[in-house]
Amino acid sequence: MLGDLLPKVPVSYGRYIEPFFGGGAMFFALQPENAIISDSNPELINMYREVANHVDDVIQHLKRYVNTSEAFYAVRSQEWTTLPKAESAARTIFLNRTCFNGLYRVNKEGQFNVPYGKYINPKICDEDGLRAASVALQKANILCGDYALVLEHYARAGDFIFLDPPYLPVSEYADFKRYTKEQFHEEDHAELARMVMILHERGCQVILTNSNHPLVHELYAPFNIDVIQTKRHISCNSNTRKGEDVIVTIPPKQRTLSKSLPQPLPKQVSAYPPTRFMGSKSKLLSEIWSVASQFSVNTVVDLFSGSGIVGYMFKAQGKATVSNW
Ligand SMILES: C[S@@+](CC[C@H](N)C(=O)[O-])C[C@H]1O[C@@H](n2cnc3c(N)ncnc32)[C@H](O)[C@@H]1O
Repeated sequence: MLGDLLPKVPVSYGRYIEPFFGGGAMFFALQPENAIISDSNPELINMYREVANHVDDVIQHLKRYVNTSEAFYAVRSQEWTTLPKAESAARTIFLNRTCFNGLYRVNKEGQFNVPYGKYINPKICDEDGLRAASVALQKANILCGDYALVLEHYARAGDFIFLDPPYLPVSEYADFKRYTKEQFHEEDHAELARMVMILHERGCQVILTNSNHPLVHELYAPFNIDVIQTKRHISCNSNTRKGEDVIVTIPPKQRTLSKSLPQPLPKQVSAYPPTRFMGSKSKLLSEIWSVASQFSVNTVVDLFSGSGIVGYMFKAQGKATVSNW
């Protein structure tokens, strides 16, 4: 879906937050400098933390695996929590590379239960890919937990939040929600939509994906919903490989202030040279900034710039390019 998603990514944003991380396709495409990534699956998060911090150990362990049915089932039967962390990460990658269709599915006890994939020559140890992933992951704060707790605690105005939850099933047989032993039901989707509304109110920029299900249209009716044609690779039934998904784009809520509260000015503003022509305007800086700081902009054009102080305040925040005229 990246071809449809990437053009919708905001041009500028604070932090990148992805709390249903899974394979993290969007994160790895964007490679943001400042990110919070999380998932409720502790085995997956252990894998990403180990790739971030001990990639050489993970690679060493991966090199020991062989692609046979016997080896696969022996490794699958291991309890990941009992292994050293780097070995456990390698086990997760090995199973992903050699299991049927790269699917991740667990039983009620949380044990991985996807069968052997019988691939001729799967790339079990993609050393270059792992090292590149390690570099990208080192720039992220990697958390394990429920999406709602992570967003409640971390999301703030200006952040870009990508939400790719377990999808609502569109057919009787489709089952894309068995990622963890805790399932994601219709009421969880309603709860997620309430959280999205809170993020919108907070001033976050959100993109959400889901299947093209009537409930998704109902929950996100106030926002722009694009239906796109998708091919699913994780499905044993070729009829369910084609599908329609949706991309919901939720902009930050625009605020109109009846009374603006003075905001703290960026520190660098105090270093700005006093101007001969602006008289007492500097006394209004807090008031001006309390309004100006609420806009998310890429370019500031200050047509009667004088000292250019408003543009300078944006510049000090590193948020915009500025032309003073
Ligand atoms: C559709 S997948 C994400 C796919 C991912 N965007 C990618 O590119 O591969 C959904 C992910 O949400 C996680 N998840 C399920 N319920 C969750 C919850 N309540 N809080 C956080 N993560 C959850 C699953 O473990 C799974 O990794």
